Amino acid sequence: MNLSNILNTLDTSSERHLDELCQWLKIPSVSSDSMHRSDVADAAKWVAEKLKKAGMATEILPTDGHPLVIAETPAVPGAPVALVYGHYDVQPAEPLADWISGAFEPTIRDGNLYARGATDDKGQVLTHIQSVCDWLATGEPLPLQIKFLIEGEEEVGSENLERLLPGLSDRLACDCVVISDSSQYAKDKPAITYGLRGIATYELEIRGPSQDLHSGSFGGAVMNPAIALCHLLSSIVDSKGRIQIEGYYDDVQELSAAERTAWSNLAHSDEAFAKEIGVDALFGEEGFTTNERRWGRPTFDINGLTSGHQGEGVKTIIPAFASAKISFRLVPNQDPKKLTKALQAHIDKHLPTGVKVTLSPDHGAAGMAADPQSRYAEAASRAIESAFGTPPVLIREGGSIPIVSRFQDVLQCDCLLLGWGLSDDKPHSPNEKFCVQDYHRGIKASAMLWAELGSLRKGV
Ligand code: BES
Ligand code: MN
Ligand code: MN
Repeated sequence: MNLSNILNTLDTSSERHLDELCQWLKIPSVSSDSMHRSDVADAAKWVAEKLKKAGMATEILPTDGHPLVIAETPAVPGAPVALVYGHYDVQPAEPLADWISGAFEPTIRDGNLYARGATDDKGQVLTHIQSVCDWLATGEPLPLQIKFLIEGEEEVGSENLERLLPGLSDRLACDCVVISDSSQYAKDKPAITYGLRGIATYELEIRGPSQDLHSGSFGGAVMNPAIALCHLLSSIVDSKGRIQIEGYYDDVQELSAAERTAWSNLAHSDEAFAKEIGVDALFGEEGFTTNERRWGRPTFDINGLTSGHQGEGVKTIIPAFASAKISFRLVPNQDPKKLTKALQAHIDKHLPTGVKVTLSPDHGAAGMAADPQSRYAEAASRAIESAFGTPPVLIREGGSIPIVSRFQDVLQCDCLLLGWGLSDDKPHSPNEKFCVQDYHRGIKASAMLWAELGSLRKGV
């Protein structure tokens, strides 16, 4: 294998790499919006075409929702198998007026490529696709088998993939899953992420009178559903951020002293962090640092609230209903199904009289913990150091990739999270971006990763 030959090819192809990413980003593959159904399908076709043209056995697999794209290179006996997972679906681009350039008109400013999906996840997953396609184009055989699973429903909970995964376990069998869908610790501080939080999301609806009522004629004589919702929500968390659901902390894996020390050695400024997100002061569970709160502690959030009059001016009513979209971030070892039971019991206990409540679970996924010292992590560390000129630090992150813990359970594989993003990339927000240099370095690190992983022997 001639790695420098491959690295040269990557260097001379950088313009095409960028151009192809822009093509993919122009397709508005918003998975949550049925208006974008055919765009989502087009984004799947675009990537399937790219993998197929490089000579890989490729299939677009329909699901009850958006399709999966599966591809693979030829088997290499004796070498481990890597499975690259990523997603081609994106979050909605709204509020559109806040974008400096169009969300689906990829634009470069100051060394960054701006578009919805630039960092989450098209730009990141494409680094691995580019490295493999270009490697195959040199005519050199890859030193290991690489499989791809690119899905279109990560941003809506990956439920169809979760259902299909057991049936695909032979096809997707691998030693190690490689995912680039997270971030570096800071600019020029690449990271290997060995843990993610899980998630459980719900919709809570409170119904009172059969229709809105005049608050003068009826106020004081019936329970107001919006007030009932406020009471109920505030019973879930205290003013210091401690969750009040019975048993919520029972299964929480405490942070080890070694882990806390390692994190405290990462450069971090609360002041700069607060400034970056535009708040005067940070807030969180007592006794924990900001990184501990973000990466290693469970949380409760209200993501949306609806009730009563939203239009101009005053309307004196008792609304007929009130609803909230809520979510919990979970740490490894907490079970989202167990939480649903505990939350229902909490609601039954705290619900004010005179209203009806329905709790509808949306999606749930467990957190993920990987071994930061595995031989795959060590191989990745060497590859990242070669491409970025500095070794990666070990971190956890607070976001969730719903399917990763299922990969560990069903495929019995290791998991490598190699994020090429930056903390100010603004995924899910207006003006999402991906640093162009990191895109190119990610492609290089990916090629070097195949060389490193290919030199390991299977199962040893
Ligand atoms: N790429 C993110 C996950 C992520 C975020 C990893 C931040 C590391 C740091 C992923 O696309 C995402 O947004 N996941 C959702 C999952 C949810 C919609 C089920 C999340 O975390 O909210
Ligand atoms: Mn993502
Ligand atoms: Mn996302």
